[in-house]
Amino acid sequence: MPANALIFLGAPGAGKGTQAREVATHFGIPQISTGDILRDAVKKQTPLGMAAKAKMEAGALVPDEVVCGIVEERIGEPDCQKGFILDGFPRTIAQAQFVDRVLQAKGRGRPQVLDIEVDEDLLLKRLTGRRTCSVCGEIYNVHFSPPKVEGICDKDGGKLLYRADDNEATIRQRLEAYHRQTSPLIEYYRAQGVLHEVDGNKDPETIAKGLLEFLSQA
Ligand code: AP5
Ligand code: ZN
Repeated sequence: MPANALIFLGAPGAGKGTQAREVATHFGIPQISTGDILRDAVKKQTPLGMAAKAKMEAGALVPDEVVCGIVEERIGEPDCQKGFILDGFPRTIAQAQFVDRVLQAKGRGRPQVLDIEVDEDLLLKRLTGRRTCSVCGEIYNVHFSPPKVEGICDKDGGKLLYRADDNEATIRQRLEAYHRQTSPLIEYYRAQGVLHEVDGNKDPETIAKGLLEFLSQA
């Protein structure tokens, strides 16, 4: 079994969501994606969504207190007792310190951090080619893992959507935010001895196989 809290770290388009889905299904634990929670709030036009929308459209990070509040509430739910995956959180040192405090307060051990590393020139193609099922959330890519029928999910016939922030200008801002605010977390977790680096340039199945092997022994 993996540690109680698994954190997926990596640049936009590194494959955090793709791999987190596999690992969550395999171990039967929830995948908590702050990006998905925020997008859902934007769609439903809740106060949270209204506060986050402009930042997300600009490719900037949503304020720490907003995302920390979301995560604290979510990991307090009963399905997180056995363990959970944080996908896209933390993304700043302040968020990472918050996770440390929450885990400590709950009497849980240190998180295990999976850092997915991908060559920068691949990221843009992955992001502009991404399509996501509006029904089940399955992630496709028109270049690397296309659906059998264009625009339709193989699993349930759901319509495939293109994310508003997957345009080239916003992607550049997201990458900039990653390098400036999130990449320092690699050293932060390395210093704690909880960082595991994953070569994210390989195909998704090979990466998932390696990850599951690693986590099963951990
Ligand atoms: P979020 O939704 O977290 O976006 P992101 O970090 O930019 O990451 P992505 O979801 O774009 O990429 P991914 O690594 O999950 O890649 P995926 O598996 O989909 O955040 C969006 C916004 O919300 C942020 O900009 C910010 O405003 C806000 N936000 C969220 N969390 C926040 C936080 N903690 N603090 C503050 N603000 C926050 O894969 C990408 C594509 O590549 C897919 O098409 C996939 O099929 C393909 N692919 C995946 N793996 C492979 C592979 N091995 N080979 C080939 N193709 C692959
Ligand atoms: Zn689907």
